[in-house]
Amino acid sequence: MTKLFINIKELIQVRETNIKKVSGKLMAILPTLKNAFLLIENDIIIDFGKMENTPKSADKTIDCTGKMIFPTWVDSHTHIVFAGNREQEFVDRINGFSYEEIANKGGGILNSAKKLQATSFDDLYQQSAKRLEEVIALGTGAIEIKSGYGLTVEAELKMLRVIKKLKENYNIPIKTTFLGAHAIPSEFKNNKEGYINLIIDEMLPKIADENLADFIDVFCEVGYFSVDDTHRILSAAKKYNLIPKIHVNQFNVIGGIEIATKHNALSVDHLEVLNDEDIIHLKNAETMPVALPSCSFFLGIPYTPARKIIDAGLPLALATDYNPGSTPSGNMNFVVSTACIKLKMTPEEAINAATINGAFAMNLEDKVGSITKGKLANFFITKEISSYSFLPYSFGSNLIESLYLKGKKQ
Ligand code: NIG
Ligand code: FE
Repeated sequence: MTKLFINIKELIQVRETNIKKVSGKLMAILPTLKNAFLLIENDIIIDFGKMENTPKSADKTIDCTGKMIFPTWVDSHTHIVFAGNREQEFVDRINGFSYEEIANKGGGILNSAKKLQATSFDDLYQQSAKRLEEVIALGTGAIEIKSGYGLTVEAELKMLRVIKKLKENYNIPIKTTFLGAHAIPSEFKNNKEGYINLIIDEMLPKIADENLADFIDVFCEVGYFSVDDTHRILSAAKKYNLIPKIHVNQFNVIGGIEIATKHNALSVDHLEVLNDEDIIHLKNAETMPVALPSCSFFLGIPYTPARKIIDAGLPLALATDYNPGSTPSGNMNFVVSTACIKLKMTPEEAINAATINGAFAMNLEDKVGSITKGKLANFFITKEISSYSFLPYSFGSNLIESLYLKGKKQ
C-alpha cells in the first residue's frame, strides 16, 4: 500500500543518507525541502523530493497544501509508568519547601514507590497506557521508558513487565531502561550497600532472564547514588549487556559524567549543573548529552547550559523526563519551545535535538529521527503554518493536524 503526500509546504529534517547524530555548529543546520512530496509504502519511507519530480501514481494521495511534515519527536528519557500523582508536593513547593526537603520527609521518589507497590499490574498498565496515548497524540513517535518507582524486586519487575506490554500493544519503538538505583528505599535507609547488592544479585539476573531491559540507569547524585555506587552498578550491568544511560548533574557536580563516559554511556541526562571538566570528558566520548528543560521549568532549577555544550562542538538531545515528581508533562512541543526560549537554542538546533539526536540517545538512529529512505514512516503533518520556527514560537499550542505511525494515520 503506497501513500503519496503532495504539495508539502516544507518537509523537515530530510536526510538523504542516514547520519548518527549532529554536533556543534552542524546542529544549526536543519535540512528541509520546500514544495515537496513524500512517498511511503506500508510502514516505510521509500521516496521524497521536489514536487516537479512527483511519482505518477500511488494507492492514495494526500494533499498537504500550506502544511509541513516533521518526523515524529523522539523522547529518549521518560518515566511514564507510575502510579497516582504528586500534586501535593507541587503545592508544598509553592509554599516554600524544596524538592530535597520534600524528599527528606518521605515525599519524592519514595512516595511514588509506595503508591506503585500498592497498585496492581493491570491498574498500572492502564494508567501508563493513557499517558503513552497522550504523548503520541502530541507527536512523539519513539520513546524510552524507565523503571525506578518499584524499588523492590517484585515492583521493579512489575514496572518492566508493564513496559513490555506497552511495547506489545503500541505501534511505536519503545526502549526500556532499568532504574532500580533511583532512590534508596526506606527499608535500606541505613544499609545502602544492602540495596545495591539486591539490585546486583537479584534484580539484574531476573531482568536479564526475562529480557526486560535495553539500558541501565542510576540516579548519580548527592543523597542518592555516589560515583562509586554508579561504577559498581554499571559494571554489574555490563555482564548482561545493559548499556548505561544515566541521571547525572541534576543538582550537584560529583563526577557522574566522568564515570558515565568511562563506561561508554549512550547518554548522560539532566546536566543542569556542568563544569569545564565535564565538557572535556564529553568531548572525549561518544556519549550524547541530554537536556530536560521541562524539569527545570517545573522545579525552578537552572536550565542545562545548552550553549556551552553546543558551542564546545558537542551534540545535544532534548527529552521530556515525564514523571510525577519533577516533570508531570510529556509534551515534546513544549520541550522544543522551552529549549529555544530558555536554553537559547535556535529552532534548527532544538528540532535536531528532539529528533535525530534523541534517536541516537536510544540507539534508534537507523529507524527514526529523520525523513530518510528506509526509516519508519513516523511523522506528523502540521496545521497551516508560516515557517518551522512558528512551532517553537507558538509555545503551548498544538499545531499538529494529523499523525502517521508506521504509515498509518492515527
Ligand atoms: O529525572 N532525578 C531523578 N528522577 C526524576 C524525578 C523523580 C521524581 O521526583 O519522582 C527526574 O527528574
Ligand atoms: Fe529522569
